[in-house]
Amino acid sequence: MKNVIKISDTVDELAEYFASLLVFRIAGTPGNQPFSWLLSGGNTPKLFFRKIATNFRDSIDWNRVQIFWGDERCVGPEDEESNYKMARENLLDHIPIPASNVFRIRGESNPAAEAIRYGELFTRNIRPFTGIPGADLVMLGMGEDGHTASIFPAGIDIFKSNALFEASEHPVTKQKRITATGRVINHAKMVVMLAPGEAKAPRVAQILNRLDGWDRLPAAHVKPENGEMIWLLDREGLATK
Ligand code: 6PG
Repeated sequence: MKNVIKISDTVDELAEYFASLLVFRIAGTPGNQPFSWLLSGGNTPKLFFRKIATNFRDSIDWNRVQIFWGDERCVGPEDEESNYKMARENLLDHIPIPASNVFRIRGESNPAAEAIRYGELFTRNIRPFTGIPGADLVMLGMGEDGHTASIFPAGIDIFKSNALFEASEHPVTKQKRITATGRVINHAKMVVMLAPGEAKAPRVAQILNRLDGWDRLPAAHVKPENGEMIWLLDREGLATK
């Protein structure tokens, strides 16, 4: 695994870097193959999505891009909590991507059944990479508790599941989630971990420096065995570490 740590002065520079990386990776994919991009949720991606939708909209052949999600809250697509809604408002409504290229996780469905359905859909649409469906790009965020996607420390065993997607639960709100497992994440060709900000800097340091307790953090287990891993960090956040 190739591991890169990208540190920029600001989150806006990280968004610019990510957008350029996306353009480059799509352009580098053989012309007859779709490019599969798993989106992350939460707040950080909003700036990244808006940057792509405004400054890079016409630099990408969106007919080649397939959009999936790394996780979703078990709510409807119009719910303020929905990762799909966030992506639609900040990206999908502003780019000419065919609706048939967007594979929404149905947060309104039964979590366990939807995890199975989505895993089967994922397998049908994504070419195997080392024998397991290998997404071209998995975008992840990290919480202050070291969770990633919707794999939380209390449910870290999900990371090692043989399933591609599992139902999970937020430890505080008890909100049901559907999440990609380590099987999806660590078989990707590239994983980009968005972890800017002062609040996350101690966790980032704990993980990257393998400090006490690092192995209890789901984000620490993101290691695309045959792919590339890029951590996106901002100097503002790290300066306070
Ligand atoms: C989610 C995300 C989650 C997120 C982190 C960071 O559904 O909430 O997938 O893993 O990436 O919690 O969230 P922020 O970007 O809001 O800090």
